[in-house]
Amino acid sequence: MLVLGLQGSPRKKGNTSFLLSAFMKEAERLGALTQVVEVDKQNIVPCKEYIVCEKKGFCPIDDDMTHQIYPLLRRAEIVVAATPIFFYNTTAQLKALIDRSQTLWARKYKLQLTDPGRNIRRGFMLAVGATKGKNLFEGLHLTAKYFFDAVGAQYAGSLTYRHVEHKGDMEKHPTVLADVKQAAEDLLEPLLNRKIILFAGQTDSCRSQMASAFTQFLAGDKIEALSGGQAPADKIDPKMVEVMQERKIDMAFRIPQSIEKAVSGIKPDIVVSLDQASGEALYPEAENEKWALPEPAGGQLENVPDSVERETTRIPNLTTGTERCPLPRACGSWQ
Ligand SMILES: Cc1cc2nc3c(=O)[nH]c(=O)nc-3n(C[C@H](O)[C@H](O)[C@H](O)COP(=O)(O)O)c2cc1C
Repeated sequence: MLVLGLQGSPRKKGNTSFLLSAFMKEAERLGALTQVVEVDKQNIVPCKEYIVCEKKGFCPIDDDMTHQIYPLLRRAEIVVAATPIFFYNTTAQLKALIDRSQTLWARKYKLQLTDPGRNIRRGFMLAVGATKGKNLFEGLHLTAKYFFDAVGAQYAGSLTYRHVEHKGDMEKHPTVLADVKQAAEDLLEPLLNRKIILFAGQTDSCRSQMASAFTQFLAGDKIEALSGGQAPADKIDPKMVEVMQERKIDMAFRIPQSIEKAVSGIKPDIVVSLDQASGEALYPEAENEKWALPEPAGGQLENVPDSVERETTRIPNLTTGTERCPLPRACGSWQ
């Protein structure tokens, strides 16, 4: 499970940085994979209101949002945004990132696409401010609520600290480490004991991506779904994105990865091999399965999502195996 931290302060080793790194250390201790983005160091152009995203679902600005942040926001199951209060809201650096998440808002609300991770993803806010006013975090909470909604995350809570101004103030706070420990446990624990399923393919650009997306959407609360390829492609198959989009499933911003990377530091409970050529079990200690899915030969992908979905609903012990469960409706058989 990836916990993504967005560090919104430009100050090196400042209060926000201390708070977020304490949170991420707890997340790691609990067994999560973590990644922190120093937002101030990214090339993120503020939204130019081209409005292309509302019609086409992508932003024409080519910067670190395109290549790094959108894929991370899609991959992470927990997004922790951290910021000092600047004029009663986030820093401009973090706000630029937030504004550019309009692309994900547009995919959700204008194009009516379902991001397979949206049932499970959680958002958490960390913030510090110098003054003691009652309203100090009010603007921030509103911004956070709509940001997390746009990126397909439920706003699960926050830790906010007043009267924190100079470098080192946060470290001296008497309860911060205990607060962070408790918050991280509350946030992560419901997701930590899920079964882990790996869909192993050849290039991780098509069927393994579909299978992990169906599993994530249908049973993300019980199963952590991963996908990987023996020889990962540079990018996901655009035809696969198209056929899934016809079914209103949003596969944009996914990136193929190697099997080793997909399971680094963890042991999958179930491995589903989608590669007809690979004979031996990849992880002998896991439950191993092989799915006979149609080869998407000659770019004919139209029927592949149906076959993948049918197989996904048969994952042992997790579904009744009797019901078909078309997206984007929720499926009772996964209760
Ligand atoms: C441009 C700017 C605007 C600020 N605006 C506020 C504010 O509106 N309210 C407040 O309480 N503190 C404000 N602060 C103070 C910071 O929130 C505070 O110093 C914080 O601890 C800095 O965190 P950092 O070390 O993570 O950057 C502001 C600071 C700066 C530089």
